[in-house]
Amino acid sequence: MRFHLPSLTISGREVLPLVEGGKGVAASSGLSSGAWAKAGGVGTFSAVNADRLDENGEYIPLVYHGNSRMARHEELIEYSIAGGISQAKIAHDVAGGNGRIHMNVLWEMAASERVLRGVFEGARGLIHGVTCGAGMPFKLAPLAAEYGAYYYPIISSARAFRALWLRSYRKVPEWLGGVVYEDPWLAGGHNGLSNSEDPLQPEPPYARVALLRKTMNEFGLKQVPIVMAGGVWALREWSDWIDNPELGPIAFQFGTRPLLTQESPIPERWKQRLLTLKEGDIALNRFSPTGFYSSAVRNSFLRELEQRAQHEVSFVDHPAGDLETPFVFGVRNRTVYVTAHDAERIAEWEREGFTKALTTPDSTLIFVTPERAQQIRKDQLDCMGCLSQCKFSNWACNARGTTGHKADPRSFCIQLTLQNIVHGGDPDQNLMFSGHAGYRFATDPLYANGHIPTVAELIEVICRGD
Ligand SMILES: Cc1cc2nc3c(=O)[nH]c(=O)nc-3n(C[C@H](O)[C@H](O)[C@H](O)COP(=O)(O)O)c2cc1C
Ligand code: SF4
Repeated sequence: MRFHLPSLTISGREVLPLVEGGKGVAASSGLSSGAWAKAGGVGTFSAVNADRLDENGEYIPLVYHGNSRMARHEELIEYSIAGGISQAKIAHDVAGGNGRIHMNVLWEMAASERVLRGVFEGARGLIHGVTCGAGMPFKLAPLAAEYGAYYYPIISSARAFRALWLRSYRKVPEWLGGVVYEDPWLAGGHNGLSNSEDPLQPEPPYARVALLRKTMNEFGLKQVPIVMAGGVWALREWSDWIDNPELGPIAFQFGTRPLLTQESPIPERWKQRLLTLKEGDIALNRFSPTGFYSSAVRNSFLRELEQRAQHEVSFVDHPAGDLETPFVFGVRNRTVYVTAHDAERIAEWEREGFTKALTTPDSTLIFVTPERAQQIRKDQLDCMGCLSQCKFSNWACNARGTTGHKADPRSFCIQLTLQNIVHGGDPDQNLMFSGHAGYRFATDPLYANGHIPTVAELIEVICRGD
């Protein structure tokens, strides 16, 4: 049966209802987003610490000079603005006037407003829309309107959209370009699971999106598209979503599939790894220093974080209840009290080489190897202040530069590992974000014999429903 995909007006232009989702850091770029626009869709470059390029298009790595995290934070923000402008210009050139170009930021990144303003200022007229997820970006609407760009909140429930609308967006309705529903159980990258949702009980998206549409209709937003993101692969599987009056105008956002295209900026070894993913290789986890859930490949990097969580015991400073077995650790020979059972587990871990005890903000200890402890400490000291608040290093983007909480060694520096993986680091030893459908690369005939399609080819296949 012929598959029909109606076009849609997005950010003021009739385009294919196909969006490349923004992927930080630098995993969706001017090249990839420009190619999506050129093919008649919507491309989203990531303005989360985007790569800065020189006039010859060569990547200029960021070398930090600052001695404090506040100083490095400033260097990072300045670089990110220049990087975002570089990517916007490339996207514009590649698109050749076709499709639409969007920019993505994570609201919880440090100084997101400053970065957005800086990029908009330096790339005037080149960016048609801005997408923003993680947290509650109330200020997104007036900011986008100021630069004549459409805004697209990324939410995972009708409730979140209702809050955004009532508090802020209803004042700027004309620039609301669409609402991205990102399935919190299936999408790659950070996931918007709320406390009331069970990470182990995925809810099918249809009812949730229908509720979002009902909420939007209530606010007079009948014609505003919903962009479905998370777990979208072949559109034939979504044919009941298209031309469906209950859902209204609908577009589809792809994050994982576009990673495996010729124009995708990720290194070859990451692309090759995608071709080998199996069902169950992608895991929802809560190690991110943002505090959000996220979905990534369960590789050595993630397994090591799981191991830290398994090597964890509670302690108290004075014996209480069954926490009465003394345990001495650290250079100052601090004595704390653990249960007799945990004392046995600790002895076992120590025999296996996990001899370094690190305290967490929850009055627990985790046990790691001395090398791992050293690396954790170094990564915390080298913090560049990339987030608005960081669990791992306790950095916060405020006047004091700290959350006031203890640093948490159960997390990791996301900036470091995402920069590593996108610039050629080992995909097994770094955070490899992926949507839960990533295992389909291995069996989808498009990728047979290691074939990596161009964006135009991928879009053609998607338009056929495959
Ligand atoms: C490697 C990777 C990085 C991502 N980074 C971001 C990001 O920085 N900001 C964001 O809003 N979404 C991010 N996403 C989510 C995508 O934009 C998209 O919504 C999601 O991947 C769609 O689901 P899918 O992975 O099933 O295709 C990322 C996804 C991946 C796979
Ligand atoms: S330690 Fe945290 S805030 Fe600092 S650079 Fe790393 S992820 Fe960003």
